[in-house]
Amino acid sequence: MKISKHGGDIYTEGLLKERALIDYSSNINPFGIPESFKNNINDILNLTVRYPDYKYRKLKQSIIDYHFKYEKVTLEEDELLLGNGASEVLEIFIRSINKLLIVVPSFIEYEELGHKWCQSVEYSFLNDNFEYGYDDILEKFKNCNGMILGNPNNPVGNRIDIDRFKEILDYAEANNKSVIVDEAFVEFMGENKSLTKLIKTYKSLFIVRAITKFFGMPGVRFGYGISSNKNMIKLMCESQNPWNVNTFGEHAAICSFNDEKYIAKTKKWINEELIFFKDKLSTLSFVEEVYETNCNFILVKLKGVTGTDLYEECLKQGYVIRKASNFRGLDDTYVRFAIKDRRNNELFLKAINNIKL
Ligand SMILES: Cc1ncc(COP(=O)(O)O)c(C=O)c1O
Repeated sequence: MKISKHGGDIYTEGLLKERALIDYSSNINPFGIPESFKNNINDILNLTVRYPDYKYRKLKQSIIDYHFKYEKVTLEEDELLLGNGASEVLEIFIRSINKLLIVVPSFIEYEELGHKWCQSVEYSFLNDNFEYGYDDILEKFKNCNGMILGNPNNPVGNRIDIDRFKEILDYAEANNKSVIVDEAFVEFMGENKSLTKLIKTYKSLFIVRAITKFFGMPGVRFGYGISSNKNMIKLMCESQNPWNVNTFGEHAAICSFNDEKYIAKTKKWINEELIFFKDKLSTLSFVEEVYETNCNFILVKLKGVTGTDLYEECLKQGYVIRKASNFRGLDDTYVRFAIKDRRNNELFLKAINNIKL
């Protein structure tokens, strides 16, 4: 049987065995599908009798408006590449690179795609504090023609220091190299920590975004890429299937980007819940360290128990957590927890606190 290398596998031990599990492994907004999409679902269903606009003009305009409103940047339609989730966009961006540098530990799909499409893959490891090692990144980048890293980075939750990162972008720009920044989780970081503000200055910069995490819809599959390298974006768009975003993906995104209430509520929740959850986790007897995070998930180093054992014990209590041993640079002494709403978090903390290890 194929074992999932990602979080979110509530099928193998859960749904396929008709067992309800609570998913603390995948990092999805606990508020779920925005009301603005749900309330319009019948009208949207009726739109499926025709093809979506092959140029996705309304969708692109809603992306442009969203970035202007929340990030004060003016994007243009031909700076956008639309995809079936962030994953499609990541694949198209990574496919354009020969020698790829990946900053690790990070989302393991970067490695999978690097090995699938690139001639060679190199790694720069986070430093001892689990932050980006900018000097090491720059040094390793000299042997590569493209790199990828997260802002924030999954599974640690560390973010890019824009001032330090500019040196790397200047180098990429002067040497015709590409920098892919995966911002699938960026909205959880609070006000405007995105690198979109640099998009016009650096043609070498390719940013990946999605509605998957922040708008709580991994099943809808919608993500997009941003770059001011319009020639490159044009070539990439031409390589895609027509109508690669279905009507539900298109309208889920339009509704979400306009949903001020949902956006404000989510930002307020993560602000409060991250502090609460982090504090409580650090009091657990089997937790050695809780790492700084700017996101809706927390990486933890364990003591006296392995990630595999903790995973099995949590499963018995009805919870799925993310073992972190398959992230390059981590091992079975690390696990990652998603952050949910207060009620669920309290129940989860109570359950793991009672585990006899
Ligand atoms: C950092 C990161 N980027 C991208 C993705 C994939 O996003 P999508 O489901 O939109 O393809 C994930 C999924 O876990 C992720 O963790």
